[in-house]
Amino acid sequence: MAIGITRVAKKLFIKTYGCQMNIYDSARMADVLAPLGYVSSGTPDDADMVILNTCHIREKASEKVYSELGRLRRLKEARPTSADPMVIAVAGCVAQAEGEEILRRAPYVDIVLGPQTYHRLPEMVALATRASDRRNGRGRGVLDTEFPVSNKFDHLPGESAPQGVSAFLSVQEGCDKFCTFCVVPYTRGAEFSRPVAQILEEAKRLVDQGTREITLLGQNVNAYHGLDEGGCEAGLAQLMWRLSEIEGLARIRYTTSHPRDMDEELIDAHGELDKLMPYLHLPVQSGSDRVLAAMNRRHTAAVYHDTIAALRRARPDIALSSDFIVGFPGESDADFEATLALVRDVRFAQAYSFKYSVRPGTPAGTMEDQIPDPVKNERLAALQEILQQQQNAFNASTVGQTVPVLFERAGRHADQLVGRSPYNQAVHVTAPGKLLGALAMVRIDSCLAHSLGGVLTDSVGSAFGRPAVEVAEGAGV
Ligand code: SAH
Ligand code: SF4
Ligand code: F3S
Repeated sequence: MAIGITRVAKKLFIKTYGCQMNIYDSARMADVLAPLGYVSSGTPDDADMVILNTCHIREKASEKVYSELGRLRRLKEARPTSADPMVIAVAGCVAQAEGEEILRRAPYVDIVLGPQTYHRLPEMVALATRASDRRNGRGRGVLDTEFPVSNKFDHLPGESAPQGVSAFLSVQEGCDKFCTFCVVPYTRGAEFSRPVAQILEEAKRLVDQGTREITLLGQNVNAYHGLDEGGCEAGLAQLMWRLSEIEGLARIRYTTSHPRDMDEELIDAHGELDKLMPYLHLPVQSGSDRVLAAMNRRHTAAVYHDTIAALRRARPDIALSSDFIVGFPGESDADFEATLALVRDVRFAQAYSFKYSVRPGTPAGTMEDQIPDPVKNERLAALQEILQQQQNAFNASTVGQTVPVLFERAGRHADQLVGRSPYNQAVHVTAPGKLLGALAMVRIDSCLAHSLGGVLTDSVGSAFGRPAVEVAEGAGV
């Protein structure tokens, strides 16, 4: 009989900051480390390895890293000497931007790695733990912030665990747009699209493991232009048509898009592709052409309006979301008014808004006429008030509608499930646990601050590829 080698499970804690792509990357880092015996843990307290997957997008996001590292240092030092030292790694966009500086400021950090090199984590862990002087807290940590020629997606193992009813799938990465306020082109590098076949394979694996909704990710996802099996370039719309053929995949979403890359084929897909959900996050940043030009957004407010009008012609009920920056250098009261006017015209279902934050190395950081913080605060409050009203109005408009809801997780109360409407709203419903992962028709009957409430109706859909589920008695029908 063969004798198996039993690996002692090691605890891995990953803390993720920033965007969905970081969430995806964190899951992939867990996959890469699984063969080494690392098992995900919910706390850093007794973890053998802690990874901070960081975000550099605004000053506040970056600052969090050093305060969190201070806490980890205390945990590392409090670890019994009989145990192996805790391995601390800093990954993601702060790691890419600051590299060596992190090892200088926090010498107890063992590994600093960028978003493009995490497939090499096993070698980095081996290097970091091998040198005994590292264990004494001396010596340099391992630094790997290269942009390797051979890309990580070709080296990733499969998912080490099911990714859930709704899962992310990165299809595109990096950005060549160079908006003057933004660090992403520097931290994530040049735009890159994964080949179609590789994406289809990953999507099929996800669906086989129970995923019913896939959100395609990219910093500029609608700039996707991956090669298909015949060596021809496919756009995002073509990719989604291919994905829609996967039996068992019920819903497709994508984020984040740039207004410049909303081509006709993609807009048409919103009208024709049933599995594509009627929700789109399309950041505009500002409603002033002067500010948009200074931001190097390469679109005007009118172009944005035209795109929205075309999307609404294709899919009249499409719910729209956006990002806004207030207080960009030189933004006048009139510029800000133009942003408010755009918001009033478009009517968003939800949105994110931020005060402009100076980022080192970006052109806007050294522009004259930086806006004082109190003005930024005032503008942000005014913008958020109207965006909140619009979100409330949108949510209220769905009350009384019966919509398909995909149940993603258990709710806080017994017999409660939480799912998403086609418009990406969270909906809380009294429903039997067996509906988890299934689509069911729900009548929206209440509208709370951040979610909706609904009841199951008679017509219960089935998760694709699964038997239809009948509704249990007393399930709120
Ligand atoms: N690729 C996406 C944006 C990614 S960053 C796009 O092109 O829209 C997410 C959001 O953070 C941006 O849309 C922007 O609103 C905000 N953001 C980026 N840099 C910022 C900065 N320096 N200050 C404030 N907000 C910023
Ligand atoms: Fe940043 Fe602009 Fe690229 Fe978006 S398009 S990631 S805002 S540079
Ligand atoms: Fe932040 Fe990097 Fe994403 S800067 S928003 S984690 S691409």
